[in-house]
Amino acid sequence: MRVLERLDELYAIGGGAGANRPHGSPAEDDAHRLAASWLVDAGLEVEVDRHGNLFGHARSPRSAEEVSDAVSENCWAGSHLDTVPQGGRFDGALGVVAAIEAVERVGIGSVVVFRGEEVGCIGSRALVAAGDPLPRMFLELHVEQGPVLAERDAPVGVVTGIVGYARAELVLEGRAGHAGTTPMAGREDALVAAAAEIQRVRDAALAIDGAVATVGQVEVEPGGSNVIPSRVRLSLDVRAPDARRLDALIASIGFEPGYRVEPAQFTGAAPQMFRDVVAARDLPLVELASGAGHDAGILASAGVDAAMLFVRSLNGGVSHSPDELSSDEDVALAIDVLADALAATTR
Ligand code: HGY
Ligand code: MN
Ligand code: MN
Repeated sequence: MRVLERLDELYAIGGGAGANRPHGSPAEDDAHRLAASWLVDAGLEVEVDRHGNLFGHARSPRSAEEVSDAVSENCWAGSHLDTVPQGGRFDGALGVVAAIEAVERVGIGSVVVFRGEEVGCIGSRALVAAGDPLPRMFLELHVEQGPVLAERDAPVGVVTGIVGYARAELVLEGRAGHAGTTPMAGREDALVAAAAEIQRVRDAALAIDGAVATVGQVEVEPGGSNVIPSRVRLSLDVRAPDARRLDALIASIGFEPGYRVEPAQFTGAAPQMFRDVVAARDLPLVELASGAGHDAGILASAGVDAAMLFVRSLNGGVSHSPDELSSDEDVALAIDVLADALAATTR
């Protein structure tokens, strides 16, 4: 299946274990170039905006009478091609190759590939902040990155909304010293302080229903094995299902977010189109929230009628890992659902 071959081609970019196409790397650029060649092959009009986002516009609707209104020309479908370090084969990439299939198949709408989704939805947030033209509708197909659809034995799911999240850097200062000659009493060990801070972050999240908090990066200076750490930088990623609990989590940890993305709900005609297509195909209807951030959330918060379709994740729903997995059958079926939904914008 062409989609699977394309996922393999993208996966091979960047080398190493897993998918390695971090934002701003030559690998992300190579992936965008490869996707652009597929957009050309699909007969779409390729455009790169001033934020580095890639577009493929269907040259014209199939016919004027089939286009109910500007919605179909103003319907985007897509996702992102950047990845976390050692990411999975499907995160972002599946939504891009699926959007190309759907727009090529249906002959309407635009494919969009956003930059830097993994590092704060940089491309979609820049587009929204610049006040650039936005579509009335945005459809994003994405792997679930969780266990719900597998537990409910459903190949696809319609996303109800996305958690809010905030990210920051925490810095702990200490005083460098000799590991051998400095008594334990009176040490100012920045890494010991960081360890206590990481535990405190964890406890803060555990105390709020539905909240999560993660320290994924720890940088220790000066970094000698026989030197007492003088400075530690921690990355902080905190999330909660609604703004009230996100506020509470931020206040409990006590930090100034580097940036914050508000929770988003998908409540327009677009998610209803996915529900209608799922029903028309006699598929089980599972609706679920997303604990992961997505570009669709940024567009929804800017007033776009956005919707997400999740594809069942296998291997316990693991993601941001080379073990990320969805079945060929579920992938093919999800693309059919996406294409049906895109076609529905002309009715
Ligand atoms: O981190 C996230 O929620 C997403 O994978 N960017
Ligand atoms: Mn993603
Ligand atoms: Mn991701």
